[in-house]
Amino acid sequence: MRNIVVIGTQWGDEGKGKIVDLLTPHFSIVARYQGGHNAGHTVVIGDKKFILRLLPSGILHPETICVIGNGVVVDPQALQSEIAELQTVGISVTGRLWISSRAHLIMPYHRAIDIATEDALGDEKVGTTRRGIGPTYEDKISRRGLRVADLLDKESFRQKVLAHSNAAIKRLRTSGHNLSDDKDQYDSYFQAVECLTGFIKDTTYFLNSAVKAGKNILLEGAQGTMLDIDHGTYPYVTSSSATAGGAAIGTGLGPNKITGALGITKAYTTRVGSGPFPTELNDEMGEHLRKQGNEFGAVTGRPRRTGWFDALIVRYAVMVNGLGTIALTKLDVLDQMPEIKVCIGYRLHGKEINELPSTASALEQVEPIYRTVKGWQETTAHIKHYEKLPEKARDYIKLIEDLVECPIGMISTGPERDETIFLPNQLMQGWLM
Ligand code: GDP
Ligand code: IMO
Ligand code: MG
Repeated sequence: MRNIVVIGTQWGDEGKGKIVDLLTPHFSIVARYQGGHNAGHTVVIGDKKFILRLLPSGILHPETICVIGNGVVVDPQALQSEIAELQTVGISVTGRLWISSRAHLIMPYHRAIDIATEDALGDEKVGTTRRGIGPTYEDKISRRGLRVADLLDKESFRQKVLAHSNAAIKRLRTSGHNLSDDKDQYDSYFQAVECLTGFIKDTTYFLNSAVKAGKNILLEGAQGTMLDIDHGTYPYVTSSSATAGGAAIGTGLGPNKITGALGITKAYTTRVGSGPFPTELNDEMGEHLRKQGNEFGAVTGRPRRTGWFDALIVRYAVMVNGLGTIALTKLDVLDQMPEIKVCIGYRLHGKEINELPSTASALEQVEPIYRTVKGWQETTAHIKHYEKLPEKARDYIKLIEDLVECPIGMISTGPERDETIFLPNQLMQGWLM
C-alpha cells in the first residue's frame, strides 16, 4: 500500500502542482481533498503552462484517474471552464474524472457574500481569493449547504438553489449587508451543473475499492499548513483543513490508508493576502525575490509578499503533518544572492522562542532571529545531480534540513519537469516505485 499526501508547508504556492505532476506516473489515482478554485497549481511542460484550480494536477497524464474528493468545494462554472480549457489542447477528462457526490457546491451567492464581507472588513480583510470558498464551507458546517448529489434531481435542485439564495440574502441583510444577487447568472450556473452530471460518483467507495485492489493514490493538498483553518495563522487562513489530516476527512480514506506525507517547501517564503509574516521583506530584496521567483498569484495575479526562509514555520509543518520528507522548490531563485538569511528563532517581548505562537497577534509581534549564510552566486538551473550543485547551495540545503528536522528528498531548480534533483532518500525512492 502506497498512498501519499502532498502538503504545502508554508502559505501556499510552494510548487505543489509541479511536484504532483512529476510524481503522477508513479500513482494510479490523483485526488484533491480540500479547498476549491482558490488553488492555482502550475504545471509547465515545454512551452505550455497549465494552471489547475479544481482539477488535480495529475490530469495532464492521460492514463491517470483524477478525483475531486468530498472535502473539496466545487464551483460548477469554474470546473466547466477548466475542463473546456483542457479540451482545447486535446486533453479529455471523460471517463477519468470523478467528483464526489458528497462535495459541497459553491453558489453564485457564496461568491457575492465573500466579496461583500471582505469589502466590509476594510483594513481587517483576510484578502481572500473572492471565490466564495469561505461562505461555502460556512454553509457546510452550518448544515445548510447543497451538495453535488443534490444536483441529480434537476427540478428540486433549481428550487433549492433559489430558496437558499433568498435565505442567504435575508441572513446577510440582518447583519447589515445589502446583497444583490443577480438572478440572470443562474442560467449559466444551471447550464454548468448539467455538464457535471456525468462525472458524479461515490468517490469514498471508489477510492477505498481502489486501495483494496492494490492501486496507489496521490493525495494533492491545496493551500498550505499556515493557511489551515486549525493550524494556520487564524483568522488569516482559508476555511478548510489543508494539513495531512484533511486528506482522510476529505476523501473518506481511513488514516491507516495514508502511508506517507511529502511536504513541499519553497527555499524562501511567500504569502498572498493579509496576516502575519515574520520574515517579510518590504525592501529591494523582497522585490528581487518577487521578480526572480515570478511571485504573482496564479489565480488572482496579485503580487505575492516575499521574505526569507522561516525554519520555525516549516518545522511546525513537519510536526503537524507528520512529514517523512520534503521537496525543496525554487532554489534557483536564490542563485544571484550574495547573502541569504534564514530565520532560526523568534524574539517575543525580549525573550527568545523557538516555537510558533498560537495567535496571529503574537506572531505579528515576533522579531525574527536570523543566521546569515553566503550565497553561491552560480546558476543551479538544469542541474540533475545533487553533487553538481555549488557547495554553498548544498550547505544551504543541509542547514534547512537540520533546522526543520526533516530530510529533503527532492530539489526543484526550475518550473519544468526535468529541472528536478532526486536525492538518495530511501523513503522518497519507496514512494516512486
Ligand atoms: P502551487 O500552488 O503550490 O502549485 O504553486 P504555484 O503554481 O501557485 O506557484 C509556484 C510557481 O513557481 C509556478 O509558477 C511554478 O511554475 C513555479 N515553480 C515551481 N517550481 C519551481 C522552481 O523550482 N523554480 C522556479 N523558478 N519556479 C518554480
Ligand atoms: P495554492 O493551492 C496561496 C489565501 C488567500 C487568503 C486566504 C483565504 O495555489 O497554494 P480563501 O479564498 O481561501 O478564503 O482565502 O488564503 N489562499 C492562498 N494563498 N495559495 C493558495 O492556494 C491559496 N488559496 C487561498 O490569499 O489569504
Ligand atoms: Mg498556487
